[in-house]
Amino acid sequence: MADLRFDGRVAVVTGAGAGLGRAYALLFASRGAKVVVNDLGGGRHGDGSSSKAADAVVEEIKRNGGIAVADYNSVVEGDKLIKTALDNFGRIDILVNNAGILRDRSLAKISDQDWDLVHNVHLKGSFKTTQAAFPIFKKQGYGRIIMTASNSGLYGNFGQANYSAAKMGLVGLANTVSIEGAKSNIFCNVIVPTAASRLTEDILPPELFEQLKPELIAPVVAYLCHESCQENGSIIESAAGWAGKCSIFRANGSLLRNAIEEGVTVEAVRDRWQKVTNVADSTRLDSIQDATGALMASLEGLNGGNRENEGDEQPDVYEFTSKDIILYALGVGTSLGNENELKFLYENHETFESLPTFYIMPAMQALFSSTAISKSVPGKEIGLESILHGEHFIEILEDLPQEGKLVSKTKVTEVLDKGSGAAIVCDVETFNENGQLLFRNQCVTFAVGAGNFGGPRTGIKAVSCQPKPKRKPDLSLSHKTNIDQAALYRLSGDNNPLHIDPNMARLGGFETPILHGLCTLGISVRLVLSAFASHDTKLFRSVKARFVKPVIPGQTLRVDMWREGNRILFETSVAETNTVVIGGAYVDLKSVKLTKPIKMPAASENLTSDAVFEFIIDQVKADPKRAKSIGGVFLYNITKNGKQAKQWTMDLKNAKVYEGKPEGKPNTTLTISDEDFMLMSEGKLNPQTAFMKGKLKITGNIMMAQKLAPLLKANAKL
Ligand code: NAI
Repeated sequence: MADLRFDGRVAVVTGAGAGLGRAYALLFASRGAKVVVNDLGGGRHGDGSSSKAADAVVEEIKRNGGIAVADYNSVVEGDKLIKTALDNFGRIDILVNNAGILRDRSLAKISDQDWDLVHNVHLKGSFKTTQAAFPIFKKQGYGRIIMTASNSGLYGNFGQANYSAAKMGLVGLANTVSIEGAKSNIFCNVIVPTAASRLTEDILPPELFEQLKPELIAPVVAYLCHESCQENGSIIESAAGWAGKCSIFRANGSLLRNAIEEGVTVEAVRDRWQKVTNVADSTRLDSIQDATGALMASLEGLNGGNRENEGDEQPDVYEFTSKDIILYALGVGTSLGNENELKFLYENHETFESLPTFYIMPAMQALFSSTAISKSVPGKEIGLESILHGEHFIEILEDLPQEGKLVSKTKVTEVLDKGSGAAIVCDVETFNENGQLLFRNQCVTFAVGAGNFGGPRTGIKAVSCQPKPKRKPDLSLSHKTNIDQAALYRLSGDNNPLHIDPNMARLGGFETPILHGLCTLGISVRLVLSAFASHDTKLFRSVKARFVKPVIPGQTLRVDMWREGNRILFETSVAETNTVVIGGAYVDLKSVKLTKPIKMPAASENLTSDAVFEFIIDQVKADPKRAKSIGGVFLYNITKNGKQAKQWTMDLKNAKVYEGKPEGKPNTTLTISDEDFMLMSEGKLNPQTAFMKGKLKITGNIMMAQKLAPLLKANAKL
């Protein structure tokens, strides 16, 4: 690759008469930049002045064949430095705010002068030079700015209160300059150096001092100032030939109340302090939008029946051997009839392994033995017989053991009031014996007759289902279940007599015992993996599915599949009756490994968001009253690769949703990319965050748009 050059660029480096600034100036000049070498030439504590320091560096640059001019002004008179650049070279492209002094004293001894001088040189000086250069950068649509902070600011250091405060002030200054400049291609970053110089000669240990040459940091600053570097608003620490980005992390924290109308008590804060301060559970925040977006998402938890502060269940221990893995595999129809499946059935096979859905078993055991579900609805005891398994999600996070002990923790995260019943969202996290989180299951159950308890109707915690695409399936595979399928599957741990005892089945309202929904899911995922992952379970990331109707053992399952990138959407039907039994389902793979080539339709034919609009059409048809209660006419502009790709109208006044523009003027127009729309409908992108980040643009009646949220969540029907 070509060398990174600065030909034609003009760089102003402040405090370039010594130390780090000198190294920056020499490097810029050696790579073709014209350099303004600014230095007041004062003492380490900001006393005196001399032209010597700047002159010496200018001489050195010229001796090496470079172009440079000296500037002896104090950075506090920033406009003079910038004028020097313009007078001598006619432009300025790069500004490195580097000048600095120290006046170290413990807090009690810092005089006003110690405070003011340090703040003037570091913070005000950087502000004045940056402010003078900014309009020029803006006009030319290009600029690179560096602020120089210090570990002393990021972490504090004894005896440097004035210096630490000024240095941290520079981080704040850079944060805002980087935002104000971004759209004009003006990028501003912070360097946090540690280098041998006169500022550190009596601070750093002598053996380290030798290793910390400023020349080892200069290339980092130069790269940040190159036109090819797109970094903006970052804090980069560098020393001794190493560099790394520093970021702000915030603990995911804890809600301090259980409902939006409740206040916060001091005791509630005390009781949740451990969670408030647990930074092991944290999120990286890159912007004020991230910070407020995350906060708003947690507040939504209050509206969604927040359960996060309720006591966790006792962990459940699941012990298993290769025999359990094989029994499960047989239970979901794995057969020696397919030579690729031998590895799931023979413990001495060189790549013996479990099907990923086997790891639903520990979660189900934990759920069965927990009281989480039975006590989840206030004032009601829910019996297991009234529970229907509505949806399931499993996500594998680490390599999985083939035998041993697993520890699962169950938690009800949300309880929704659906009128005729309650939808209970339960998360089960499973760990190995060392406490490492290996996988997580989420089970949404429907407790018949447990509704009308005054809880929220829609929530945010359940992983969303995704409607199938409109096109014909890319592939369909079938599997005929055995009449003894349920009898075999139940041995893996689900002993509900509904699946084996004809009397119990009749009591439950079925003519004959029915197959376990999770068995149908296991068979479906096995078929998806056979087609799109060449039976390689390591490629499996997660599966989400909604159970729609029961299957009778002996019936044939047909799994229709659609590939959308690494997501394989699928729908399982009973072939004999053409009845859908699993819907809204998808397997997410790490990558796709096709067993046989599959003809895919051209990518441009459909947008992924089409399926969500189709789903909304169905919802609105099913419950037009609800749509009308939202009211309003919404126009969606869906973009793809930055260009408008489709328009959809949601005329909720008249309960009509269709492709294209509305006849009259819409109340609200929303513009969003196809990808972000999908993320939002899956609950992975918070609408407020999307709005604040500029991913979702709304014109017209913004307040009205907020009413749309429940309709947009693909699982809102649950
Ligand atoms: P240095 O003392 O070798 O160089 C600083 C230069 O700034 C001096 O040549 C000085 O004459 C000049 N200067 C001081 N006040 C000025 C003013 N008002 N106007 C123009 N020039 C002025 O120090 P060093 O170590 O190279 O430091 C450079 C920057 O890096 C400073 O901002 C310092 O706070 C920062 N820094 C340095 C660290 C290190 O380990 N050396 C650690 C953390 C931050």
